[in-house]
Amino acid sequence: MRRDGLRGQVSHSTVDRCAVSGDGQGPLQVNGIRWQLDPEVTIGRAIVAAAQRLGGAGVDSPRLDAEVLLGHVLGMTRAQLYAHADRRLSEEERRRFEALVGRRCLHEPVAYLVGRKAFYGLDLLVTPHVLIPRPETELLVDLALDTLAHRSRSASGNGAQPQATLADVGTGSGAVALAVAANNPHVQILATDISAAALEVAQENARRLGLEDRVRFLRGHLLEPLPQPVDLIVANLPYVAESEWPSLAPDIANYEPALALAGGPDGLSLIRDLLAQAPRYLLPGGSLFLEIGSGQGAAVARLASAAFPSAYVEVLTDYAYHDRVVAVRT
Ligand SMILES: C[S@@+](CC[C@H](N)C(=O)[O-])C[C@H]1O[C@@H](n2cnc3c(N)ncnc32)[C@H](O)[C@@H]1O
Repeated sequence: MRRDGLRGQVSHSTVDRCAVSGDGQGPLQVNGIRWQLDPEVTIGRAIVAAAQRLGGAGVDSPRLDAEVLLGHVLGMTRAQLYAHADRRLSEEERRRFEALVGRRCLHEPVAYLVGRKAFYGLDLLVTPHVLIPRPETELLVDLALDTLAHRSRSASGNGAQPQATLADVGTGSGAVALAVAANNPHVQILATDISAAALEVAQENARRLGLEDRVRFLRGHLLEPLPQPVDLIVANLPYVAESEWPSLAPDIANYEPALALAGGPDGLSLIRDLLAQAPRYLLPGGSLFLEIGSGQGAAVARLASAAFPSAYVEVLTDYAYHDRVVAVRT
C-alpha cells in the first residue's frame, strides 16, 4: 500500500489478498483455514511463517512486524532473534505469538499490540486512547528546540538565562512535549488535551522519563486551560477532512482514536479555533508551529496571517516535500 502523508492515508490500490477472520484472541483463520504454527517451531521458522501470513493479509511490512511481535513475546531484540534463530518456542510463547499475528492480520497497529512506540529517541507508552506518534511530527520538535536555542543565544548575549515556556496543544501520548523537555533543560511546558484518557498516558510517560517536574498536563479545549500566555505554542491537532475518511488505512480508521484524527468538514476546524485563541495566549516575540496535512499549507497560512497580521508566516515541507508545518513568528 502506498503511504501518502503523515496520517498514512493510503490509496487502496492493493486489495487484501486473503480473507482473515477471528477475534484476534484465538487461532487465526486465513481463507477459512486455521492457521497455527508447528508445535516444534523455531524462532527463525516462526518469523518466516508469520511474515507470509501477514503479507497475505495486506500488511505493509510483514517481516519487520513479525520480528517486532516475536521480539515482544520473547523479550528479545531483533538482533537476539537472529542470534537464537534455532531456539524452539514454548507452547505459551507460540500461542501468544499466534494471537498477536492474528490481531495484526486484522490490521491492529503494532504499536498498540506491543504498547510502545519510539519517538525522538524516547520510548513512549501508547494505548488505543492516544494517536501513535509519527516520525513526521519530529519536525515540530526540531523547530521548537531550534527556536528555544536561538532565544537562549540572544538572551545570553544580554547576560540572562531565559526560562522559556511552551504549550503543546493536543498532547496525546505527550510525545512532542516530552521530546522537547528531554532535550532542553530550561523550558517549562504546559501540555493540554481534551481527552482525560490520553492525559493519563502522557502523565505516565512523563513519570517514566523523569520529566514530570517540567511538564504540566491540563485538560480542556485547546489553549483554554493555560493559566498564562507562553513563548512558544506547538500543536499537532486532528486535521483529517471528512472526505478523506474513506481513504484512511484500516490500521488508522479502525484503531486510532477518531478524537485524534477528525478535523471537521475540511480538516481545519480545530486549527481555526486554535488560531482564533492563539493571539491571547502567545507572548510578544513568540512563535507558533502547527502541524498540518499535505495540501493544507496555503489555507492554514492564510488563517495564520489573518490571526497574526504582522507575523512572518511560512509553510514548511517534510522530507517527502508534503506541506507539514505552518510556522508563525511574531
Ligand atoms: C493528532 S493527535 C496528536 C497527539 C500528539 N501531539 C502527537 O503528535 O502524537 C491530536 C490530539 O488532540 C487532542 N484533541 C482533540 N480535540 C481537542 C481539543 N478540542 N482540545 C485539546 N485537545 C484536543 C486529541 O485528543 C489528540 O490527543
